[in-house]
Amino acid sequence: MKKMTRVALVTSGGDCQGLNAAIRGVGKALFEKLGEHVEIYGMYDGYRGLIDCDYKFMGPKDFSGILTEGGTILGTSRQDYIPGKDIVDEEGNSVIPKMKTTYNRLNLDCLIIMGGNGTQKSAKLIADAGMNVITLPKTIDNDIWGTDTTFGFQSAIDIATNVVDYIHSTASSHSRIFVVELMGRDAGWLTLYAGIASGADIILIPEIPYDVNKLVELIQKRYDSGRTFTIIACAEGAVAKEDEKLDEEASRKKRENANHPTVSYALAAELEELTGQEARVAVPGHYQRGGPPCPYDRVLATQFGAAAAELVVNKQYGRMVAIQDGEITSITLDEAASQTKFMPIDHPMIKVARDIGICLGD
Ligand code: F6P
Repeated sequence: MKKMTRVALVTSGGDCQGLNAAIRGVGKALFEKLGEHVEIYGMYDGYRGLIDCDYKFMGPKDFSGILTEGGTILGTSRQDYIPGKDIVDEEGNSVIPKMKTTYNRLNLDCLIIMGGNGTQKSAKLIADAGMNVITLPKTIDNDIWGTDTTFGFQSAIDIATNVVDYIHSTASSHSRIFVVELMGRDAGWLTLYAGIASGADIILIPEIPYDVNKLVELIQKRYDSGRTFTIIACAEGAVAKEDEKLDEEASRKKRENANHPTVSYALAAELEELTGQEARVAVPGHYQRGGPPCPYDRVLATQFGAAAAELVVNKQYGRMVAIQDGEITSITLDEAASQTKFMPIDHPMIKVARDIGICLGD
């Protein structure tokens, strides 16, 4: 008799568009390949469901009608992670043993974990603890090592671009400087791509610390040539040159003592002072992660889901599905978790931005 394959689905960390498309891709492909010889468990709220053994048993119908839905039908959560060492609860106790208890109790063959950069790293710890793991790369930040892109990224670019597009007319009518703060604490992919797509005049990303005087120069140059408004696409993790050398503790203290909630507000105030021009801030925030996935992300998430199902069938565990040079492939979790994919400062898109005169703050 053919053996039953038992798989648990986990969506972990910040949500993004395309999670449900990926869940659907995995589920449909598994039922196609294994028919009645597969059991799928949907763990509720990310790792929380795995820790508490809180799940729903998913049949073929659960994977229908969710392709275009935003968020994740399973829910998600963030879990404290001690880099390279452990996943812990609020008291600092390891939660990995509890995950393993659930894994054994459900007699699982594999966990399929969909997550961002942090989740890839924590998933490796779960695999190291003896559980079979396959991961899918999802995040609007596009900062996962070993894949050219992640699902969620293109949808977020669409939204962020739309926001900056809309800001243009009001900035122009009022002759204002506008700082539009886009998501990305550590990596500038989203801000750079949305900034280029929306014609921002200045793009500030965490990887390139900015000198406010360079911004003032560009704003003045624009003003002198009759362009009385300026649009700045600013990543939430953008950092001023003078703050670049602060260690984590010092920058935390600086943030706590600051008069402004985020870098964008501080920058807008500084620019008002230095240029004498009115400045405003727009923060689309989690709007960038919401709503239906764009067609590209629907396709990519479906491809990733089907590829993950194939890895399950072939018992190829300890791997992350990826896309490299247009081909769907997979890499080891060791590699995926080895580092964060920051925006390389010699990336061709950075050159394009510079080539067309966008100021990157340096
Ligand atoms: O990792 C995705 C992301 O949206 C980042 O761009 C952002 O900094 C962070 O999550 C926000 O996290 P939260 O949803 O926990 O506020």
